[in-house]
Amino acid sequence: MSRADLDKDPRDVATMFDGVARRYDLTNTALSGGQDRYWRAQTRRALAPQPGEKVLDLAAGTAVSTVELARDGAWCVAADFSQGMLRAGYRRDVPKVAADALHLPFADASFDAVTISFGLRNVADPDAGLAELARVTRPGGRLVVCEFSTPTWTPFRVAYQELMLARVLPAIARGVSSNPDAYIYLAESIRDWPAQPRLAERIGAAGWERVAWRDLTGGAVALHRAFKPA
Ligand SMILES: C[S@@+](CC[C@H](N)C(=O)[O-])C[C@H]1O[C@@H](n2cnc3c(N)ncnc32)[C@H](O)[C@@H]1O
Repeated sequence: MSRADLDKDPRDVATMFDGVARRYDLTNTALSGGQDRYWRAQTRRALAPQPGEKVLDLAAGTAVSTVELARDGAWCVAADFSQGMLRAGYRRDVPKVAADALHLPFADASFDAVTISFGLRNVADPDAGLAELARVTRPGGRLVVCEFSTPTWTPFRVAYQELMLARVLPAIARGVSSNPDAYIYLAESIRDWPAQPRLAERIGAAGWERVAWRDLTGGAVALHRAFKPA
């Protein structure tokens, strides 16, 4: 399968992640220059999972994001539709569920908090994914979306989009990843993703309230936080 065939068809996306699963964590850290750990720690801080709470980490991949969320004692489940990614994280001691973001196998209001890191951009219908997350969250529960975004300072934005995404990322991926095409898809999907204010509107339209965001790494990544109406 080539990158050009990837139009967020769910089977193609799952197959693509199956293909990068083995080296996913390593490639991620290499491409982000180690920033991925900082982004995950900030996601946990924004979601603030408490001991005894039930937390859904959707599009959890190898569960690298889930173990970070579980650090404070909450019960955290990793859900992803790529069995290859879940399998690559088999050593991580958190419950794992094969699940599609658009049809979650959980009852209404099952979770105190839900989060999705670097996953919403890949979901075929992100608005439906946000609504499905709202369905499984209890009234008053929290959402945090961690996703690539648009740097706010123009010189950094230009350098990031035209140098980092268009040239550096594909070059590193060719050296490190087991499927470089997947990382060209990554660069294109980041470029096409809505900037912070527009994503906030879409989260609000999907059934969440009090939507706010915080930029990380100059806006290359943004954390959007919101609440399910009580
Ligand atoms: C870039 S990885 C992110 C993994 C992890 N959350 C992290 O922060 O490193 C994106 C994940 O989204 C998953 N994904 C994409 N669309 C999905 C869907 N519709 N349902 C479930 N998982 C999905 C992919 O299988 C992949 O594992």
